[in-house]
Amino acid sequence: MDFSSLVNPTVLTQPVYEPGKPIEDVARELGLDPQTIIKLASNENPFGPSPKAVAAARQALEHGQLYPDGGCYALRQSLARKWGLGADQFIVGNGSNEILELIGHAFLRGGDEVVMGAPAFVVYKLVTLLFGAKAVEVPLRRHGHDLPAMAAAITPRTKLVFVASPNNPTGVSNATAELLAFAEALPEHVVLVYDEAYAEYLDSPPDVRPLIKAGRKVIALRTFSKIYGLASLRVGYGYASAEAARLLGRVRQPFNVNAIGQAAALAALDDEAFATRCRNENRAGLAQLEAGCRALGLEFVPSDANFMLISVGDGAAAFDALQRKGVIVRPVGSYGLPTWLRVTVGTHAQNERLLHELGQWCRRVRT
Ligand SMILES: Cc1ncc(COP(=O)(O)O)c(C=O)c1O
Repeated sequence: MDFSSLVNPTVLTQPVYEPGKPIEDVARELGLDPQTIIKLASNENPFGPSPKAVAAARQALEHGQLYPDGGCYALRQSLARKWGLGADQFIVGNGSNEILELIGHAFLRGGDEVVMGAPAFVVYKLVTLLFGAKAVEVPLRRHGHDLPAMAAAITPRTKLVFVASPNNPTGVSNATAELLAFAEALPEHVVLVYDEAYAEYLDSPPDVRPLIKAGRKVIALRTFSKIYGLASLRVGYGYASAEAARLLGRVRQPFNVNAIGQAAALAALDDEAFATRCRNENRAGLAQLEAGCRALGLEFVPSDANFMLISVGDGAAAFDALQRKGVIVRPVGSYGLPTWLRVTVGTHAQNERLLHELGQWCRRVRT
């Protein structure tokens, strides 16, 4: 008898997450100098973390022998001040990915339905399937969530609805009024998981706190992996009613967020000037990429986030060609977008290099 015959059957059919390729892998596989490779594949912050966050992380490392504060007291206090909510309304996770999984643990059972956009962040589907629930995928409209169609897909079996605004992999956000009306109209038995991973890149993102205060079943998710540049340290958080935060807290590991990440996140929250600079740089980078695509005659999807979809014909081949030149981007065939690449907005110089290599690719396929 092998392990597979003993395992929970869900595991055998569970799809596997495909991350952006790490620089070291590409260097090894292609014999390139890692110093010359740029990674624009995982929507990371090209400006790194705030120096204040780095200093705080270094200091926390000195106490690496101690278990972290499993309750993330200081970070939740700081988040409570920032958002004007109670500290008991926050749940901190090992990236917002972990909170997505905690939501699955807490709410999903076999037979439940989960409504999500298609394509949307693939982890929504992974979590849904992991807990034996059914993914009800609603095609996007003009690359954004089709909220009326999502509302129409809700049945008495629906337990969760995932909405990311801006959406990944398209970068398109929903209008505030439309999003809030959608949330308000959801039936009592449905929890809205509103994923704000890229909300800091918007000038004025929708504010769901009044909905939470009014008792609506909304769990909002944020991350320190994007504008705060701390993807490696794995810190994300959710905010909701105190009841929802408490329920999610019951299913987390005792020490789910490491102390170095907690210290860095706390310092990052105190350096809003850094986040503002990154937001402005990102806006300039998007404009640079848009202008470059127009000059190359490449279609793109105007984005509200720190990444952009660019139509290149054969996405897998373009990914491969760029990678050979040391530019790692993301093919999105697995998201049902085989003719597109998803590229992260880099520094000015990184964007130039990306556009140069895209130009070379265009010349090759057009001649
Ligand atoms: C829409 C969305 N949500 C959540 C995440 C997870 O982020 P993390 O686990 O790093 O906080 C990502 C990461 O790319 C994302 O794109």
